Amino acid sequence: MSAILEIRNVTRRFAGLVAVNQVSFTLAEGEILGLIGPNGAGKTTLVSLISGTLAPTHGEILYQGNPIGNLPAYRRARLGIGRTFQIMRPFPGLSVLDNVAVGALFGRGGGQPDLAQAREQARACLDFVGLGRAAGQRAEALGGPGRKRLELAKALAMQPRVLLCDEVMAGLNLVEIDEVIDVIRKVRATGISVLVIEHVIKAIKSLSNRLLVLHHGEKIADGPPGEVLANAEVVQAYLGRQRA
Ligand SMILES: Nc1ncnc2c1ncn2[C@@H]1O[C@H](COP(=O)(O)OP(=O)(O)O)[C@@H](O)[C@H]1O
Ligand SMILES: [Mg+2]
Repeated sequence: MSAILEIRNVTRRFAGLVAVNQVSFTLAEGEILGLIGPNGAGKTTLVSLISGTLAPTHGEILYQGNPIGNLPAYRRARLGIGRTFQIMRPFPGLSVLDNVAVGALFGRGGGQPDLAQAREQARACLDFVGLGRAAGQRAEALGGPGRKRLELAKALAMQPRVLLCDEVMAGLNLVEIDEVIDVIRKVRATGISVLVIEHVIKAIKSLSNRLLVLHHGEKIADGPPGEVLANAEVVQAYLGRQRA
């Protein structure tokens, strides 16, 4: 399997804090890779480093074999790197459909050239994530589960080749989690490679046959979920958090 994304010794500091420390891994073409770790482990920072909303302090990020670590976020989006945001901020005053159409206008290859086409693509993405019926609503009117789907639709409207999902199942009930799992499987089936950050271990295990663990900014495990979840350092990282 060839790598679509390669992270090489990436470090990100914030003043005195090392949020991501010498992390290396690859995302294979067509893979769903799971990423877990306690709160504050550096997961969202890593997504921002890959999508370009943050620049690495050290290290290299390769996409389809080319270094992208110094490109601004919009250029990376045009190349095909899409992400969802853990903190959801829909464009206020815009309908659900137009929130997604914005993604379509700025997507891979420069996006759709006009609003009518962007809206058409947005509608297809809303149907894809199961939010078609909410298209005409104002985005702020959506509840938590709807906003998670909206995040997915916005990212998909950019027609990414790599999708970085930052806790898209957080706050969902078991039925909604299963529905989002199905959406992510469908995403992969369209040929998109996916990185899934998730606390719901059952969801990660059902989606992915490879799991990566971050703790205090460092990668402490990378392998099949069964092995990784039995790893003493991983167990300690989670137990330590529960005791705290
Ligand atoms: N913009 C920022 N400025 C300063 N510190 C930050 C910033 N973003 C994240 N951090 C810190 O970096 C660490 C990792 O955060 P984050 O990547 O959000 O973790 P996770 O997503 O795994 O919960 C935390 O200690 C957090 O407080
Ligand atoms: Mg986070």
